[in-house]
Amino acid sequence: MPGRTAIGLDIGTSGVRAAELSYGRGGITLEKFGQVALPDGAVRDGEVIDRAQVVEAIKTLWKGSGFSSKSVALGVANQRVVVRQVDLPFMPPSELKSSLPLHVQDYLPMPVDDCVLDFHVTEEVADENGRRLRGLLVAAARDMVVGNVDTVQAAGLRVSSVDLTSFAVLRSVAKASSEVATEALVDIGARVSNLVIHSDGTPRFVRVLLSGGQDVTEAISERLGVPTALAEAVKRGAETDLGGQNPALVSSAVELMQEVFVDEIRSSIDYYSAANAQFPVERIVLTGGGSLLAGLADRLAAVTRRPVVLGNPVAGLHLGNTGLNDDQLASVQPLAAVPVGLALGVVL
Ligand SMILES: Nc1ncnc2c1ncn2[C@@H]1O[C@H](COP(=O)(O)OP(=O)(O)OP(=O)(O)O)[C@@H](O)[C@H]1O
Ligand SMILES: [Mg+2]
Repeated sequence: MPGRTAIGLDIGTSGVRAAELSYGRGGITLEKFGQVALPDGAVRDGEVIDRAQVVEAIKTLWKGSGFSSKSVALGVANQRVVVRQVDLPFMPPSELKSSLPLHVQDYLPMPVDDCVLDFHVTEEVADENGRRLRGLLVAAARDMVVGNVDTVQAAGLRVSSVDLTSFAVLRSVAKASSEVATEALVDIGARVSNLVIHSDGTPRFVRVLLSGGQDVTEAISERLGVPTALAEAVKRGAETDLGGQNPALVSSAVELMQEVFVDEIRSSIDYYSAANAQFPVERIVLTGGGSLLAGLADRLAAVTRRPVVLGNPVAGLHLGNTGLNDDQLASVQPLAAVPVGLALGVVL
C-alpha cells in the first residue's frame, strides 16, 4: 500500500496530465500517471480559455486513472508570470512573505496588488551596498491563477498548492548528484516552453518562452496548405499521403521554426551568462513533447556549443502499479517532467 501521496496536475495546450507519487522509507514511487487530450483552443498560451472543455478533460482523467486523492498541486506557466532575479534587503525568512509586496513593485509590469508573489532565495550577498537576499521573484497575475484554480475546482478537485511549472521541471529533472554544476533545463511544450538554469538544484534564472512544437506544426500546415492534423503527422515523421507535396517544403518549415526557437534559447542563455559568468551553463537538458522534434537537439547543441541531452524525470523513482508498460512509460517520460515535479514539490 502506498504511504503518503501527492498528485501534480499540469494543464497543457495539448492535454491535462497528472502524476501521483508516494513516498516511504525506500524512496519515492510513481504510482499513477494519466493524461487526456484537450481540443485546440481550450488552453491558450498556458491559460484556460474554454473552462467547460478543460473541466471535462480533468473529470475524464480522474475517472480513468485511479488516482487515490482529489488534492492536487497545480502548475502555472505563461506570459502573465514574471520571474526576475532580484536583490532584497536582508530580512529573516519569517518576514519575507509579508514584506514582499513593499519591496517589489519596481520590478513588476503590473500592480503588486494584482499579483500572487513568491520569492526563492538563492544566496545571501554582503558588500558595500549592505547585506541582501538575492533570489528569484515570481509574480503571477492573480486573475489568471484564480481562473486556472477555479477550473480545477469545478472539476471536483482541491488545489493544495500552485507552483511555477519551471520549478516543477527543476525538481524532476535536475540531479543533485550530477557531475555538471550548472545546466539549463528546457521543457518544450506545444505553445509554452520553460527554461530554468540551475546550479546543483538552486534556480538562478527562469524564463517562460511563448513558443513550442505547435509553431512548427503551423508552419508546416501553412507551407503545405494542409490541415494541422496532417501537418502534425508529417512533423512526427509518420507515413502520410501528401499527394505529391514537396518534402523540401516540410524540412524548410521545420528548419525555419527550429532556427527561431533555438535562437530564443541561445539568447536567453547568453543573457543569463552575461550576468552570471561565475556559473557557466555546461549543458542543456530537454524535456516536453516538443523536445522530440527530429534534429532539434542537434541543432541546439551546434548553436549553443554545449552538449544537449534528454532529461528523464522518472529516473530516480521506483515504479508502482502504474498500468503502463515499458513502451508506454518511455513515451510518457518527456511529458512527465511537469506533473512529477509538481507532485515532488508536495512530497519533498
Ligand atoms: N514525436 C514527436 N515529434 C515531434 N514533436 C512531437 C512529438 N510528440 C509530441 N510532439 C510535440 O510536442 C508538443 C506537445 O508537447 P507537450 O505535450 O509537452 O505540450 P503541452 O504541455 O500540452 O503544451 P504547453 O506546455 O505548451 O501548454 C506538440 O507541439 C507536439 O507536436
Ligand atoms: Mg507543457
